[in-house]
Amino acid sequence: MAYAKITGSGSYLPERVVSNDALAADLATRQVETSDEWIVTRTGIRQRHIAAEGTTTSQLATHAAKAALDDAGIAATDVDLIIVATSTPDYVFPSTACLVQANIGAGGGAAFDVQAVCSGFVYALATADAFVRAGRAQTALVIGAEVFSSILDWSDRSTCVLFGDGAGAVVVQRSEKPGIMAAQLQADGTQMGVLHAAGNVAHGKVVGDPFLRMDGQAVFRLAVNHLSDSARAVCAEAGVPLTDIDWFVPHQANVRIINFLGKKLGLDASRVVVTVDQHANTSAASVPLALDQARRDGRIQPGQLVLLQGVGGGFTWGSVLARM
Ligand code: ACO
Repeated sequence: MAYAKITGSGSYLPERVVSNDALAADLATRQVETSDEWIVTRTGIRQRHIAAEGTTTSQLATHAAKAALDDAGIAATDVDLIIVATSTPDYVFPSTACLVQANIGAGGGAAFDVQAVCSGFVYALATADAFVRAGRAQTALVIGAEVFSSILDWSDRSTCVLFGDGAGAVVVQRSEKPGIMAAQLQADGTQMGVLHAAGNVAHGKVVGDPFLRMDGQAVFRLAVNHLSDSARAVCAEAGVPLTDIDWFVPHQANVRIINFLGKKLGLDASRVVVTVDQHANTSAASVPLALDQARRDGRIQPGQLVLLQGVGGGFTWGSVLARM
């Protein structure tokens, strides 16, 4: 039986680190009041990386992609599928995936973007899994990358303190050994109102509202309920009990959501990868950033079972269960 297996990972964070105190001081100059204490207590976030003005998502994605290729020990020319998950693409078109393809010199294969906001990486990984198992691709690069700071309203303290910029990537290759065991993707478009950036560019002008808006408490409720159901569904599909999961790598939005979910699923905190304190919420980049960090620091080992989960605007959510 053919599987799609994660054979490498990489990530990239912009150089500039902004602590909660530094952010609070900066926001104070705009008459926006917040504090390290409020942010840490409600979210667990201590700092975020913010891209320098002019930095693009494709640049962050290219760094992460190169690191993942190095880790997998393969050449860019071996890649025949690139999927980039992002809500902050460089352009209306071409896709960020096409820009990455050109940057790394991986000509020829398919390249496209996936738009599922903070669920984007999980959506992209499940898509790559389907391509690879169907024999439509041999070697895929799956990337989550965001310059999320570009869609934040810095006068809205209820959202601007929550996010950061970054990119993470994995190489997925066809393999006879077990890799991705099951995937589950869902959406509920009727819940669009709880989290959106409902703007666009048309006729040379910004139309609508180009900034992220969120009903935080509604997002909290939807995230916890949908993700616990999704975790159970993906384990049932793979025929493994939840207790077999070695590592849980959830979307890094808020440590309270992560802790609540871990408890609901009966997963001990020592098996949950948390990076939200360091990176804040990097949307589509959050899951691959956390996965890469835990692979590189030796926590996630070959052969272990990992549950990856995303949740975000749309409303979208999903899970991938992968044997590493
Ligand atoms: N600093 C100081 N005070 C603030 C800030 C801030 N940055 N933001 C809001 N407040 C104030 C509010 O004005 C309000 O004040 P009031 O009582 O005087 O009116 C008070 O704090 C409480 O506001 P709430 O919005 O009720 O705060 P809540 O306890 O719900 O926490 C939070 C907000 C952290 C967003 C929470 O709802 C949550 O965790 N939601 C989950 C959503 C999430 O994490 N989203 C991330 C992106 S979505 C995703 O990735 C899926």
